[in-house]
Amino acid sequence: MLATNKKKMSVILFLAAFTLFGMAAYNPPKAPRQNEFKNLQVLPKDISKEALDKVMHNFNDALGVKCMFCHVHTGDDWRQGWEFDKDDKDEKGIARLMLKMTAGINSTYFNFDNSTKTDTIHVVSCITCHRGIAHPDAKGIADQMQSGGMKQMAPPPPPPAPNKN
Ligand code: HEC
Ligand code: HEC
Repeated sequence: MLATNKKKMSVILFLAAFTLFGMAAYNPPKAPRQNEFKNLQVLPKDISKEALDKVMHNFNDALGVKCMFCHVHTGDDWRQGWEFDKDDKDEKGIARLMLKMTAGINSTYFNFDNSTKTDTIHVVSCITCHRGIAHPDAKGIADQMQSGGMKQMAPPPPPPAPNKN
């Protein structure tokens, strides 16, 4: 009898200790999980780190540039010295305008299905015009042609067929 009580007691103690430990370890989130980004004015503020990374690498590829083209970097070590939230470079501001322009072209001229989710239409993107060069005005393109032609890029997907009815 005494032995079973002892056993019960130790089970209870074990459970109590386990619960306390669990409670200490469980730190309830104060707000919905947020990313660490501080200065998003065009992209969704709750964008995941993975999605933002993808957008930024797309910029690099489409314009044929490195992150430094739009972002402030100090020092010689590329792993540190970044201030991605700063707006010191004009190129970053232009990129914001370009993001809005591209979204506008897609929602105005390529929304053949009258979708309400126009942010999911990506017929036109940075690469459609830029093709691996930063400055795709007539001169930029001419220069690029002279120095060996435009970078070969996969063509953008064809626009969806317009509705027949
Ligand atoms: C063509 C310009 C351009 C290039 C190249 C570029 N970015 Fe950006 N980046 C932007 C713009 C514009 C924003 C702000 C978007 C907004 O306001 O919604 C931004 C925002 C960011 C942010 C969020 C900062 C914050 O706290 O608000 C990070 C992080 C970032 N970029 C990282 C990178 C990395 C890493 C690279 C290189 C792989 C890169 N960017 C290349 C234009 C660029
Ligand atoms: C409809 C065509 C088009 C699309 C789409 C487009 N751009 Fe541009 N972009 C241009 C042209 C043309 C210029 C050169 C403007 C000039 O001559 O002043 C330019 C210039 C820029 C510049 C300034 C480059 C410099 O040398 O100072 C940046 C930065 C830029 N674009 C970023 C982007 C990003 C990021 C996207 C995608 C979100 C994008 N662009 C989509 C046509 C486009």
